[in-house]
Amino acid sequence: MHCATCHGVSGISVMPGAPNFAQNEGLMNPDGTLLISIQSGKAAMPAYRGVLSDQDILNVIAYLRTLN
Ligand code: HEC
Repeated sequence: MHCATCHGVSGISVMPGAPNFAQNEGLMNPDGTLLISIQSGKAAMPAYRGVLSDQDILNVIAYLRTLN
């Protein structure tokens, strides 16, 4: 719901500059680092602190790691 407009429904990015999770892009860092990126926002990506709980974001990261 929050992420597919840029990262695509299956992780195949639809926005220039957004990592393609289907090709394992953007997932090199550990979960804690990615959590901070998603909470704080990064470049064109908005911040999700207060929108999604820490647990929700960690669940999404675990899901992203299954898309490659
Ligand atoms: C408006 C477009 C947009 C939306 C919406 C968006 N992202 Fe991103 N995302 C980006 C872009 C662009 C980058 C690359 C940022 C950069 O330049 O490093 C990125 C980077 C990332 C990264 C890699 C972060 C890193 O530290 O390298 C992850 C993981 C990620 N997004 C997950 C998500 C998740 C999960 C959501 C939904 C909760 C989301 N994104 C929503 C555009 C978006």
